[in-house]
Amino acid sequence: MTNKSIPLPPYERVPATMMPRAFEGRTPIGAGGIRRVDESRVQESRFLVVFPFVAELLAQSRPESVLDYGGGDGWFARHFLSSITEYCVTFDRDRRMTALAKRQCAGVANVVVATARGEILTGGFAAVVMNAVWMEWQTERKCQQYLREIRTALRPGGQLIASVTHPCFRDRSFSTFETEFDAQDYLKNGVPLLVTFRRGYRWHGSRHVVDTHWNLEAMSRQLKCAGFVIDELYERPDAPTGGLFAGSPWLVISAKKA
Ligand SMILES: C[S@@+](CC[C@H](N)C(=O)[O-])C[C@H]1O[C@@H](n2cnc3c(N)ncnc32)[C@H](O)[C@@H]1O
Repeated sequence: MTNKSIPLPPYERVPATMMPRAFEGRTPIGAGGIRRVDESRVQESRFLVVFPFVAELLAQSRPESVLDYGGGDGWFARHFLSSITEYCVTFDRDRRMTALAKRQCAGVANVVVATARGEILTGGFAAVVMNAVWMEWQTERKCQQYLREIRTALRPGGQLIASVTHPCFRDRSFSTFETEFDAQDYLKNGVPLLVTFRRGYRWHGSRHVVDTHWNLEAMSRQLKCAGFVIDELYERPDAPTGGLFAGSPWLVISAKKA
């Protein structure tokens, strides 16, 4: 899979996010809704580095069925999962995302868009993938609740592959996004952090989202409490050809259902 062939998504999400007090004065991504964007949109490292890597990891274990949990607009399912597995399901709690995923995946025979949480709790998936979702969970309870749900969706011994922005490098800029986080707070969990996306190689300071910081210890504990065993951690570079900026913007966690 070459990076040149990776298509870019034609939509971006425009959530009606309220900025926490600490980030007052910053403009959230928008007033809510989904807007179509031109193809020269964000060349985010998620699409260029993380998606191909996660797809390759999954392909190695040849899962017959994969669930994309928090799959957003279905991009990963359509452009990556559909060629790796016989059957995949994409599920997102946001109805607007589900509607987009239905359009995106229409006509792709082996991709199903789930419309209700109950549809994914089958206990039959060989693997679950979760890209850039964990940072949206704001409390320890929610983290454990959703990880348990994922465990329920998996068959015994099933694999979870989760990508997150690397918790150890949230105090710096990378080529396509920067996170504002005080490294002094690394050991605190549940702390909000501001993410600003870059378009191409120019900053457009108005694109912000607020994520939540979970450090390595917290993520490892949450996985253990939810009934997973970590089998590998991968730290990805900033660009497909290697690091542009120091450090690693993305952490990919592979874990097994215990
Ligand atoms: C940053 S987006 C990433 C979307 C997609 N995975 C991607 O990388 O393009 C995170 C998505 O996770 C979804 N999400 C967060 N928590 C979820 C949950 N517990 N169940 C289902 N979807 C969830 C959100 O609605 C959002 O669309």
